[in-house]
Amino acid sequence: MTKANIILTGFMGTGKSTVGKLLAKALGYRFVDTDELIQVRTGRTIAEIFNEKGEAAFREMEAETARELGRKSGLVISTGGRLMLDPDNAAALGETGRIFCLKATPEEIVARISGDAGAERPLLKGGDPIERIVGLMREREAGYARFQGIDTSGQTPEAVAKRLLEAYQTD
Ligand code: S3P
Repeated sequence: MTKANIILTGFMGTGKSTVGKLLAKALGYRFVDTDELIQVRTGRTIAEIFNEKGEAAFREMEAETARELGRKSGLVISTGGRLMLDPDNAAALGETGRIFCLKATPEEIVARISGDAGAERPLLKGGDPIERIVGLMREREAGYARFQGIDTSGQTPEAVAKRLLEAYQTD
C-alpha cells in the first residue's frame, strides 16, 4: 500500500514543523520542511534568498520543491506559509497527499515566531507584527479556506499531532 503523504499548510508560526515532526515520528514517515530543504540546497537562509534573489526566485524554488515532493510517498511535509496557496503547487502535492491547514490567532503566531530565533520571516519585517500578520492573513484567508482546517490555539503540539493522526487514519 502506498503511504499518502501528509501536507501541512497554514500561516507562519502555526506549528507546521513542530507538529509535523511529531506526526512523522508517530507514523514512521520521513519529515520534510520545504524551507529547510531550500536552505540546505542553496546554502542560504530564506532571508538571504529574499535579499539576494528576490521573492519571485524563492517562489520558483518552492514550485520546484512541490513538484519533486509530489512524486514521493511516506512523507510528512511542512510547507512554507504561502506554498500551498499557489494552485499548481497544491495540485502537485495534493495528488499524492492529504492536506491540512493549521490555524492560530495573530497573537499566538507572534509569540511562537519570537521564540523561533533561527528563522527570520522577511515578510514580517518592519512595522507592527500583529498588523502585518492580520493584513497578510486577510489576503490569504480564502486560499487557506480551501483546505481542511485544524485550530491549534491554546493547544500543545502533541494534542494537535494526535488530532491530525486521527483525521488521517479515520477518513
Ligand atoms: C512565508 C513563510 C515562511 C517562508 C517565507 C515566506 C510566507 O515559512 O517560506 O518566509 O510567505 O508565508 P513558514 O510558514 O514555515 O514560516
